[in-house]
Amino acid sequence: MSDLVRAVREALAARGEPVSRLGYFCAPFRPQSGDLSDKVIKTYRGGRDPELLEQLARRHDQYVECLTRAGVRMPETKFLILNEAGYLQPVIVQQALDQDTLLRPQIEAAELERALDLIDSAALSIAQFWAAVSQRPERIGYHPSIRNFAMDADGPIFFDTFPPLIGYSREEMGRLLLRFSESGMIRSVGSVFPERIRAIQDEWYSPAGTILGLIGSAIRLRPADRTAILERARVFARRHLEGEMRDEVLEGLDKPPRLPAIWTTTRRVLGLEGKPNV
Ligand SMILES: Nc1ncnc2c1ncn2[C@@H]1O[C@H](COP(=O)(O)OP(=O)(O)O)[C@@H](O)[C@H]1O
Ligand SMILES: [Mg+2]
Repeated sequence: MSDLVRAVREALAARGEPVSRLGYFCAPFRPQSGDLSDKVIKTYRGGRDPELLEQLARRHDQYVECLTRAGVRMPETKFLILNEAGYLQPVIVQQALDQDTLLRPQIEAAELERALDLIDSAALSIAQFWAAVSQRPERIGYHPSIRNFAMDADGPIFFDTFPPLIGYSREEMGRLLLRFSESGMIRSVGSVFPERIRAIQDEWYSPAGTILGLIGSAIRLRPADRTAILERARVFARRHLEGEMRDEVLEGLDKPPRLPAIWTTTRRVLGLEGKPNV
């Protein structure tokens, strides 16, 4: 057993309070003491499906490499599978970010100009990611929601590497979304209406969709500043985007972006709406 695996087992055994319950797949927690007290541990729904999980581990490594090569700043992130007598438990161990750097509360609390700059800076990093991966042959996605970013003096930091959005077909990703949902309700609804779950990923595989998603969440966080946010997003698109992505974003900004209904419903049912309970 490696030292890291031993430390993760110890931390899980002494499990403290989660860092956040805002995740769809996991409730990350930060050990209060021990070797991993500067890390966040994210556990994912385990099972007895070694082939799927071993492929997932490989894809996770590929995805971290892909993000890094594309210039995305990330905390150090490792994926492991704990084996409890054949029951396999996927775990991510990630450098913990200072709570003050999380983007969502910063956007909520900032003065308008500062909030607009924060949104701009996240949007720019998203556009740079898509430009960097545009020539790669694999099917690659990105889920750069406000909740998945931190922001420090050097700019955006992205930290949500699960599920790894590389190499999976739409069909396969739909199955992964079901397989790893923490909610039994989603898993049963999803097995009856698989397309409802499959469609969750579509925004993550659409460059324009990820920018519109970001702007849409910013507006939901600061509804009073809707006009200013939309106006700044138009300036951003004209200045920093080109081609089809630019047209799609400008068009999308004219019909105010919303979360797909299934996603809002999912959030409501899971109780994930509103402020982070940290
Ligand atoms: N490295 C980290 N440091 C501090 N908080 C984190 C870290 N990673 C995740 N979190 C907190 O946990 C929440 C959910 O984590 P995330 O990795 O996005 O999981 P999910 O895939 O379930 O959305 C984040 O929105 C954030 O509040
Ligand atoms: Mg997340």
